[in-house]
Amino acid sequence: MKTGYDDYAFIADLYDYVPGYAYRGDVDFYLDCCRSVNGRILELGCGTGRILIPIAESGCHITGLDFSEHMLARCRQKLQDEPEEVQKRVRLVQGKMADFDLNEIFSMAIIPFRPFQHLIEVADQMACLHQIHRHLEDNGKLVFDLFQVDPRKMFGTKFTEEESEDFSWVDLPDGRKLKRSHRISAKHWSQQYNDVELIYYVSHPDGKVERLVQAFPFRYFFRYEVLHLLERCGFRIAELYGNFDKTTLMDDSPEMIFVAEKY
Ligand SMILES: C[S@@+](CC[C@H](N)C(=O)[O-])C[C@H]1O[C@@H](n2cnc3c(N)ncnc32)[C@H](O)[C@@H]1O
Repeated sequence: MKTGYDDYAFIADLYDYVPGYAYRGDVDFYLDCCRSVNGRILELGCGTGRILIPIAESGCHITGLDFSEHMLARCRQKLQDEPEEVQKRVRLVQGKMADFDLNEIFSMAIIPFRPFQHLIEVADQMACLHQIHRHLEDNGKLVFDLFQVDPRKMFGTKFTEEESEDFSWVDLPDGRKLKRSHRISAKHWSQQYNDVELIYYVSHPDGKVERLVQAFPFRYFFRYEVLHLLERCGFRIAELYGNFDKTTLMDDSPEMIFVAEKY
């Protein structure tokens, strides 16, 4: 399992300052989902708590699981600024999405911002869904988002050399500046994954510029593949959206957001 999140501390340090993450527009969507059930929430791949903390603030009890100690440490640090009653509603666990045992039953599981796409093999995807199924109450819900494939970006050259800028310099609170690019270093069409590099440039007040690379394989999925996968693991689809404003999935939708129900 290679995601970079567990290997490099710099990702947890910089994650919350990436404008595309901070303004992704998914927080209210997941908040609504969690408030619609009256019970405990499980978040897989909770990272720095970008979604988990607002959910706990809203009054829900939530358990966050993540493989990366660096991301969990950042989440714990942010939680320390929260009132005690919010902190008490959160349980954080270090573990793998495809193999966990929390000894807790949940009303809803969520996997915000694509951690499921780090599961490259079907066996791991199914293991993850089986574990979620086992941890949900009867008729419990599973909500997760994946990007929808843009076929124009999929093809072209098999190996790409150029970096493409995600955002230009932004100021960090401690005086550093950050910009980021990304690069697809190889495409594996027959196995439906790309080798992705997220390239962080950090400019320090003394003029030093660091180039830090998070390299990882990233799986992509198609709508009906996910429906079949869910069916095989005991879930039926309740809703399928193309964006966080709950619009229907269409050809040019950026996301595929699945709301599934355990049966
Ligand atoms: C893009 S971040 C999403 C974090 C958070 N859900 C959010 O919306 O900001 C992906 C997270 O998934 C975690 N992750 C990736 N693969 C995982 C696995 N197999 N098991 C547990 N966590 C995993 C990473 O450590 C990382 O924190």
